[in-house]
Amino acid sequence: TPQRFSDLPSLRRSVAGWRKADERIVLVPTMGALHEGHLALVAEARRIGRRVVASIFVNPTQFGPNEDYSRYPRDLETDLALLGRAGADAAWTPHVETMYPPGFATRIDVAGLTEGLCGPFRPGHFSGVATVVTKLLNQVQPDVALFGEKDFQQLRVIQQAVADLDLPVEIRGVPTVREADGLALSSRNRYLSPEERAVAPRLHAVLTEIAAAARGGSPVAGPVAEGRAALEAVGFQVQYLAVCDARTLGPVERVDGPTRVLVAGFLGRTRLIDNVAV
Ligand code: PAJ
Repeated sequence: TPQRFSDLPSLRRSVAGWRKADERIVLVPTMGALHEGHLALVAEARRIGRRVVASIFVNPTQFGPNEDYSRYPRDLETDLALLGRAGADAAWTPHVETMYPPGFATRIDVAGLTEGLCGPFRPGHFSGVATVVTKLLNQVQPDVALFGEKDFQQLRVIQQAVADLDLPVEIRGVPTVREADGLALSSRNRYLSPEERAVAPRLHAVLTEIAAAARGGSPVAGPVAEGRAALEAVGFQVQYLAVCDARTLGPVERVDGPTRVLVAGFLGRTRLIDNVAV
């Protein structure tokens, strides 16, 4: 099992030793409830670094008042065992009082990238993410930090914050790990009823269909409208389904350059997101 750190001075002591020995440190930030998607990030970290630190922290400031913070799945012992098997050296498991002591007053707000897609549906979410990730990067001081493409807007927001704040770390994306039927692995998939689980893979199927239709540079509006109708027909409440510039995340009418198709919606009480490259 990995070495577990819950207070900042002991984490900093170990990290300082690794840095002094010139060991390349890779950070994998998570909120726990680990699955094969998270473990793919740890495996990639193992390939590129000498020291792998995984953080486990369910960050209260990125959950809205009606979201699942209190019922978010927590199982630290299982997570530590999984991290050990995947080859992590250390688990950074700060308490909420360590991250947000009384008087905590600073927030990182990334403009532009957070204004579309999930932004309007989750006010304050990306500010909570950017703030906690900035803290994690400053605490661990990794050479590289890995994030899943599953949360593509999050990945882009973090890349923007790191560039804007001159943080000395390289942010890399890792491809989405999926079930055999296409459903992206997510800690929230366990909330799905058997009936919901059966239709959930339509999300990825629709994204793939739109990406294929958009590839040649023809207008995307038709395929997007069809895809939305197909999802609603099987019970999704679609929040957005959009074809976007992969860099700015602004909507595009035709593909000419790196492009992403992104979707979010509710299936019953469970919110699912996914995206694919065109
Ligand atoms: P969490 O949802 O636990 O995800 C941790 C990391 O795993 C994120 O980078 C996410 O994109 C990645 N991930 C999740 N599912 C994946 C999948 N199916 N394939 C590949 N990667 C996947 O995202 C967060 O936590 C938080 O917002 C965090 C960045 C830790 C800040 O609190």
